[in-house]
Amino acid sequence: MKPEWREWAAEARTEFPQAHSALLPLLHRVQRAEGWLSGETLADIAELLDLSPQYVQSVASFYSLYFKEPVGKKVVHVCMGLSCMLAGSDELMHQLEEKLGVSQGQTTADGEYTLLEGECLAACDLAPVAQVNLRYHGPVPPEKADTLLREEVSP
Ligand code: FES
Repeated sequence: MKPEWREWAAEARTEFPQAHSALLPLLHRVQRAEGWLSGETLADIAELLDLSPQYVQSVASFYSLYFKEPVGKKVVHVCMGLSCMLAGSDELMHQLEEKLGVSQGQTTADGEYTLLEGECLAACDLAPVAQVNLRYHGPVPPEKADTLLREEVSP
């Protein structure tokens, strides 16, 4: 456990006195610092907030934006919701898989990119939508996969 995590847990409890409410911001802060949340990290967070490890694990597993494995410097989410699928997001995913040489759910060998599927990203009017490190891009037609990876598509 990193020493600063105790301080961060105390700050989260100050803002959110209920431990269950403090959990999400603490998970977010630790992930921002560490890049992902290992099983050991989740156990440490459970201890800091006096919650059961199983509960913390279940919460971290529920939200797809908490990473339970190391991810690349750029995390690319491609929306696979209905509107985006109808607009070609499956072909966009295929193009990205080819260009990066990985399948969805995987990280490139150089640690630059992690390619993930997303559910509706709540920007259906921009379909097909992708995010790079949570920054929205859309519409991103499949032929713009290269441009997306260079983050030159307008948000
Ligand atoms: S279906 Fe893709 S943003 Fe809603």
